[in-house]
Amino acid sequence: MLSSHHFLFPTSALFIFSLISSMAASTEASDSSIYEVLKSHGLPMGLLPKGVKNFTVDNSGKFDVHLDRACNAKFENELHYDMNVSGVLRYGQIDALSGITAQDLFLWFPVREIRVDIPSSGLIYFDVGVVSKQFSLSSFETPRDCLAVPVPDLQDGRNIVETVSKILPRKLRYEVDQDNFGRTSL
Ligand SMILES: *[C@@H]1O[C@H](CO)[C@@H](O)[C@H](O)[C@H]1NC(C)=O
Ligand SMILES: *[C@@H]1O[C@H](CO)[C@@H](O)[C@H](O)[C@H]1NC(C)=O
Repeated sequence: MLSSHHFLFPTSALFIFSLISSMAASTEASDSSIYEVLKSHGLPMGLLPKGVKNFTVDNSGKFDVHLDRACNAKFENELHYDMNVSGVLRYGQIDALSGITAQDLFLWFPVREIRVDIPSSGLIYFDVGVVSKQFSLSSFETPRDCLAVPVPDLQDGRNIVETVSKILPRKLRYEVDQDNFGRTSL
């Protein structure tokens, strides 16, 4: 079910982005809006919705954004924003993201990382832990209205991510155990 439109990260590209980001971080205007901060990091302004109350960004790129309220914004998929969104800005990328959840196949998945291609391919990638999902960059051009909604059930998607990330090693261990058991009982 997670097999459609997901991508693996090119690790070397991530490395290059983090090198570039240290140069970008020092050129920030202190009184610009969070949307301009996103833009100055090569990220689309629409990643954060309308209704930002205040925000802080430090020199390392670590940011905290406070929204008026938790809310949902509709893109190709629906995104849920917690009242507090935080993460680490790098050039073309947000790491250690917390507070944004994406809906897919009726489940909600916490978004851990967001990345755009540089030079631009017109795509943006949302990493939800086990897979990364691509969207069209143009749909994130401008901040969207964000509507207050009941808090979605985030637990299902979280459970799936946790389960899937544990299944492989556990399955291997299980098979090894079975194998040993099979041998010793013969
Ligand atoms: C930003 O807003 C939050 C939530 O209302 C508040 O707790 C916080 O103190 C504010 N921070 C700043 C820097 O104004
Ligand atoms: C958001 O952050 C503010 C300030 O740090 C805090 O007082 C508030 O409890 C947080 N709200 C939520 C829903 O986590």
